Amino acid sequence: MRIRFFLSMLQLGVLGILFSLAMLVGWHFWADTPAPPLAPEARTVATVMPPSPEILAGKSLWRENGCGACHDQGMRDRAIGPALGGVGVRWERFPREDLYRWVRNSGALIAEEHPRAVAVWQEYKSTMPNYLHLSDQDVAAILAYVEYTADRP
Ligand code: HEC
Repeated sequence: MRIRFFLSMLQLGVLGILFSLAMLVGWHFWADTPAPPLAPEARTVATVMPPSPEILAGKSLWRENGCGACHDQGMRDRAIGPALGGVGVRWERFPREDLYRWVRNSGALIAEEHPRAVAVWQEYKSTMPNYLHLSDQDVAAILAYVEYTADRP
């Protein structure tokens, strides 16, 4: 009786070990299967292209000037200020310089009754700080970083 009990326990033990081994081997094969590569049409520019020097400069300027305190860092959600992704399209009826001037001194454009400036100000009713030290090139770099970030999957 005792010996029978002992033998069946042994059998169970051996089965247990075999089962664990099978799991281990199975896991090993499963874990080693590489992920299928992205289909070319699923890739966006951002996943393929590393950021250009202009985009990297824009990223530093974005951080140094604290734009992310009021604008969503992912450029997609509304925060204290609007989501900046797609801002170029919202200003495309106007010369590009208007957008540069806006970032330097938004109050001046509102005072001049620039249509987009007035519209966005009326929607948010709070004023952006002035960034008088930013050149056209600086703002262009920030906007390049904005679009690059907004386009990421
Ligand atoms: C203190 C908060 C705050 C900070 C900091 C800030 N913004 Fe803004 N921004 C706003 C608000 C609010 C608006 C909406 C317009 C308004 O009411 O002035 C806005 C609007 C804008 C717009 C126009 C958006 C549109 O849809 O037309 C741009 C472009 C912009 N900001 C860029 C920047 C950049 C670049 C920086 C950093 C250099 C910055 N902002 C820093 C609050 C801020």
